[in-house]
Amino acid sequence: MQKPRFLMTDPAGFDICYQINPWMRPEAWAADRAVRLAQAHAASDTLRRALEAEGAVVEVLPAAPGQPDLVFPANAAVVLDGTVLPARFRHPERQGEEAHFRRAFEELEQRGVVRRIIDLPDGLFHEGAGDAIWDAGRNVFWGGWGPRSDRAAGRALAAAFGRKIVLLELATADFYHLDTCFCPLSGGEVLYYPPAFTAAGRATIEAHVAPELRLEASDEDAAAFCVNAVNIGRTIVMARPPQRLRERLEARGYRVVAVDLDPFMMSGGGAYCMTLRLDRTSVPAEFPARQLEGAFE
Ligand code: ARG
Repeated sequence: MQKPRFLMTDPAGFDICYQINPWMRPEAWAADRAVRLAQAHAASDTLRRALEAEGAVVEVLPAAPGQPDLVFPANAAVVLDGTVLPARFRHPERQGEEAHFRRAFEELEQRGVVRRIIDLPDGLFHEGAGDAIWDAGRNVFWGGWGPRSDRAAGRALAAAFGRKIVLLELATADFYHLDTCFCPLSGGEVLYYPPAFTAAGRATIEAHVAPELRLEASDEDAAAFCVNAVNIGRTIVMARPPQRLRERLEARGYRVVAVDLDPFMMSGGGAYCMTLRLDRTSVPAEFPARQLEGAFE
């Protein structure tokens, strides 16, 4: 079997010097900057080693000056079947990352790690795998829209990949990317935080996921960035979970690997968004995507 492959970024350039989500508090970070940055290096190393311990290969992108959020490559692109669709960031603070990530993807293409790079239609914002999560079991994307990504961008990317997308509207500023509040697991369960969604979004989740497969995260679980998890087989790597969440997941047969990601949580991110999975594959859709358009929203 092919090894899981992830992209991560060297955290040397990590900083919290602007606020584009409610978790980011530049003054709190600045008060203890050197210590926090040292912790960030340790946290990033621990996360990388946890993935490698699960058999993964991790590509590490060098830091870039002036790009403090480059440490969150989940937002850089959607990658499926070797095709990379680079993101277009909503906030000017992150738009400078686009060129760095594009060069990284071009290099991965030259090395044959990915096959091709395609473009999002003009005029649309989309923040990558943070708002387009591949659910291998269901062979669909789950797409978040609202605070960062445009709904039309979700539809466009599904059309570009020729796969269905189940679109969910995000209702809060705190849970601004789908990956902060929604995580499909290998056994078919979905760990999600219902208050992050509109009523319509919750109804869509309920329509697609059987009750026994819905794992509702508590306020505490969500605030601890535990929904922002990396699932490899039966292992789930996440920021340190409340005991109750660990027990619920273990009762379902998962092994929970906890990593102290506190410095990155201060920027509004956890394990999933510090990584970008590069080797996801789909199976051909049974019907032309167009025929089903709308059916999955
Ligand atoms: N500070 C970053 C931002 O607001 C954090 C991104 C976290 N990424 C994620 N996919 N949740 O954009």
